[in-house]
Amino acid sequence: MIVGLERADDAGVYKVTDDIALIQTVDFFTPVVDDPYWFGQIAAANALSDVYAMGGVPKTAMNLVAFPLRDMDMAVLRQIIQGGLDKMREAGVVLIGGHSVQDSELKYGLSVTGFIHPDRVLTKKGLREGDRLILTKPLGTGIINTAIKGGFASEDVIDAVTRLMATLNRDAADVMSRYPVHACTDITGFGLIGHLAEMIVGTGIGIRLSSKTIPIMPEALKYAGMGLVPGGAYKNREFRNSMTEFASSVDRLTQDILFDPQTSGGLLICVDRENADKLLHDLKEKGIETAAVIGEAISEPAEKIIVE
Ligand code: CO
Ligand code: CO
Ligand code: CO
Repeated sequence: MIVGLERADDAGVYKVTDDIALIQTVDFFTPVVDDPYWFGQIAAANALSDVYAMGGVPKTAMNLVAFPLRDMDMAVLRQIIQGGLDKMREAGVVLIGGHSVQDSELKYGLSVTGFIHPDRVLTKKGLREGDRLILTKPLGTGIINTAIKGGFASEDVIDAVTRLMATLNRDAADVMSRYPVHACTDITGFGLIGHLAEMIVGTGIGIRLSSKTIPIMPEALKYAGMGLVPGGAYKNREFRNSMTEFASSVDRLTQDILFDPQTSGGLLICVDRENADKLLHDLKEKGIETAAVIGEAISEPAEKIIVE
């Protein structure tokens, strides 16, 4: 076993031979968008992401379905499954089975199996002083989803956030695999700060973020200003407040976004300064235009996140 329960990471990793390690992960949730076909795509992209975050390549998956048979049309389920299937096909992943149960609340997701060379496993730990931090997707999906639920978001905004959440982290992982990356994770429920905190706890390393360079969906700032911030963002702030220091120039709305829980968020890639600009350039060339260097790993203060 290379990565197991004792170390909370994106996925478990088990060494099969000297050249092959197995990556296993499972993820499912209730709908984040109204459209069942898109929900299927988002749930699949989200589940596959943990394999990409470990530096691996997903190969097979199984469906996990909880469906309210009595209250919902089977056509809805068919569209969800189709969305998941199309996303798996895009990722080069084969569906090999699954399980469904009757439940009062609809849920969908995947268990995913991937592979990687045992020496190339990327975990959350491994960050080194001087490393640059690269984020590949803009933040704000939790706040925007809250605005959608409240009926405040326009069709254009719904469309943009839906496509963002359904975008695979495959291309980013593919670029990353060509560089000597030190650590990686994907940004999900704990928000940017929560996931950065996981990376530095117990390492003695600190992080300095430049808030001006962090990619943020513009509508997220607007909705945060309207108070449409999900409860999870407040929980995330409470949990990691003592590790975080904000400069007075970082306004409250930006702070909210750094704690905002993300659905199917981007990769956070840690690489030394010499390689950071080239990696970023390659990401952009692959069409990941929102990618940006958002900060760096520092030695002092230890295990704190300074936001400027
Ligand atoms: Co993850
Ligand atoms: Co996960
Ligand atoms: Co990882």
